[in-house]
Amino acid sequence: MKRGGRLRPLRTSVPDTIMASSPMQYIWPGIIGAQAIHAAAKLRIPDLLASGPRSIVELAADSGADAAALDRLLRALSTLGMFALSADGRFSNTPLTDVLRTDHPQSQRDAALFLPAAFLWRPLGELYESVSTGEPVFPRIFGQRFFEYLATHPDDAAVFNAVMTQGVAFTSPALLAAYDFSRLERLVDVGGGEGALLRDILSATPGLRGVLFDLPQVVLGAGEVLNGDLRARCQIVAGDFFHSVPEGADAYIMKGVIHDWPDEDAARILGNTRRAILKDGTLLLVENMADAASRPVGVIDLLMLVIGGRERTEADFRTLLSGAGFAINRIIHMEASSLIECRPV
Ligand SMILES: C[S@@+](CC[C@H](N)C(=O)[O-])C[C@H]1O[C@@H](n2cnc3c(N)ncnc32)[C@H](O)[C@@H]1O
Repeated sequence: MKRGGRLRPLRTSVPDTIMASSPMQYIWPGIIGAQAIHAAAKLRIPDLLASGPRSIVELAADSGADAAALDRLLRALSTLGMFALSADGRFSNTPLTDVLRTDHPQSQRDAALFLPAAFLWRPLGELYESVSTGEPVFPRIFGQRFFEYLATHPDDAAVFNAVMTQGVAFTSPALLAAYDFSRLERLVDVGGGEGALLRDILSATPGLRGVLFDLPQVVLGAGEVLNGDLRARCQIVAGDFFHSVPEGADAYIMKGVIHDWPDEDAARILGNTRRAILKDGTLLLVENMADAASRPVGVIDLLMLVIGGRERTEADFRTLLSGAGFAINRIIHMEASSLIECRPV
């Protein structure tokens, strides 16, 4: 079997997702629509429509786009329920584009900028090769692994870090409802990005102290997130988790970190965490669970395939964790991801 080619049990039930009557209902609108939404979000059209319908001339003037081409873009998107075109020729937001406004409380603008951006679109365009070989195409296309590439491409890194920070807005409420952080003393967020998750956990847990740990260029943005009263309870540490992880805390959390890596790299990160954690400490992983029946990870695993990571089943996590010296206490399935609570053994 090729690398990364473990077989999973066949799902027999049809997932509860949109069923189109023809594959073309996915393929053409899916592919062209993704780039169309990306273009509209980049031009900030949903923001420009925040206060009501506007003509194409006004939108073109304010976005800097070519009026005729913008008209074609917005008409095409309106056939997908993205923007509405009124009888007097003005465009307005629909619920699907309203959420692409920068100031929407659950804004998905960063997500619309993320996947269709060239640094992900190009490898996704070569999914066929990854499926044929079992190898990620990202390093072949860009000559670097995913996080090495981000370290040398600050504009793309900013898009990536923004979408991670935005994603936390969806995860934090579920995580805080699912888990009692108040029994912990010092929580290290390993690969914690710009600190949005740690900010939310510390804000909700007054006695807890935190450590944000990520690559130097990523934690540079953390001062803006972990500010005010929280700064006194929080340390920001730059480093490389393949080298070491901040030592001596009773609690470590990693959200969406392990799925970025193949098994051997994931084992190194967990092994370094095992060396750092106190002997009766707690490790919390927040990950997609590939076999949680109600929340299939679906297409995200294909993104992981082209960049070099993988989504894992509960059995995969058990094997990986026990190899690194951890045992699972319990798994809490949340709305969109799962929380795996572990202890060192
Ligand atoms: C998928 S992101 C998850 C970020 C954050 N935990 C979240 O869920 O929003 C993975 C994180 O791992 C960090 N990372 C990648 N390689 C790293 C390394 N060698 N050492 C420390 N952090 C690293 C990235 O910078 C990124 O912030």
